[in-house]
Amino acid sequence: MSLKIIGIGKGIPKRKVSNNDLCAFLDTSDEWITTRTGIKNRYICTTESMLDLSETAAAQAIKKANLKSQDIDLIICSTICGDFVTPSLACAVQERIKAKCPAFDVNAACSGFIYALELASLYISAGKVDNILIVCAEMMSKHADWSDRSTCVLFGDGAGACVVTRGDALRYTNLSASGETQMISLSSACGNNPFVDNKTENRYLRMNGPDVYKFAVSAVEKEAGQALQEMGLAHEDVTYYILHQANKRIIDAIRAKIGLPERKFPVNIEKYGNVSSASIPILLDEMIEADEIKPGDTLFLCAFGAGMTVGSCILVWE
Ligand code: ACO
Repeated sequence: MSLKIIGIGKGIPKRKVSNNDLCAFLDTSDEWITTRTGIKNRYICTTESMLDLSETAAAQAIKKANLKSQDIDLIICSTICGDFVTPSLACAVQERIKAKCPAFDVNAACSGFIYALELASLYISAGKVDNILIVCAEMMSKHADWSDRSTCVLFGDGAGACVVTRGDALRYTNLSASGETQMISLSSACGNNPFVDNKTENRYLRMNGPDVYKFAVSAVEKEAGQALQEMGLAHEDVTYYILHQANKRIIDAIRAKIGLPERKFPVNIEKYGNVSSASIPILLDEMIEADEIKPGDTLFLCAFGAGMTVGSCILVWE
């Protein structure tokens, strides 16, 4: 017994920001961003909090699951940093939706959705709970250095949520972390501790783009090969490869290595940019709304992020 997804939703900020909007204050171009990343637009929080986006996504997921908030037995949120450092985003979501259950956050960077799915599966398999709400929410606009054109153009804000319950859809998971903390990093503030002399820490997200690119292509190819081997599947048996939407070129490079048609690698990065751990649930929500995922479809999900964390899983849709 593992789990199945029975409801999914998303919360997207109102303010859409195009590549041309960025050209107003950055030395960049729509042509550079589009050809290097596949991104055309992203959404940025201007009036919304991360909790607002999370509440919208959670409410949609619970409604589509035909449940009430009171039916949720556990809330797991994935975020690199909630609106508050403490309490957790999960506790804030719990207050908003008026659920009465344990709630906590996981931080596995962009791989957070897969980490949360495995945790949820273990809770369900242990017989501790029936229905779990997973919310992945990120406000990357808060962490980007808006004067650094090599990183800020990549990210967007958003939330994706799902409700999972007992089922057999999740057939395989694999999580890893390589203990690499320099490739992508974001320092926390040191506060106003009078005993610390140097308080000028860099508080923006820093990334070695070319190294992340190489890491991602090789990690996802390896994860896919291992997952299929363990499940006794061929690449052709997978209906969709639903990959973290970090960069269209990364997805294209993986697809070229595996040698499958473009339609098997759904992409929505042109609309949202990289929304970290929210990217896969937002893409799943769009595909389900468009009736593109059918019962029996085999989905390979894979994400990679700071740490460097990697998570992959196989879902046979129920
Ligand atoms: N507009 C115009 N020029 C730019 C921009 C920009 N926004 N950003 C960088 N450049 C310039 C650089 O200054 C450099 O100029 P130079 O040759 O005169 O020095 C040139 O473009 C090439 O820069 P590179 O960094 O080598 O560009 P690259 O082709 O590697 O693309 C990118 C950069 C898009 C970040 C790429 O490395 C990449 O996709 N890496 C993967 C990282 C990623 O997707 N991370 C996602 C976040 S992390 C995560 O989700 C886990």
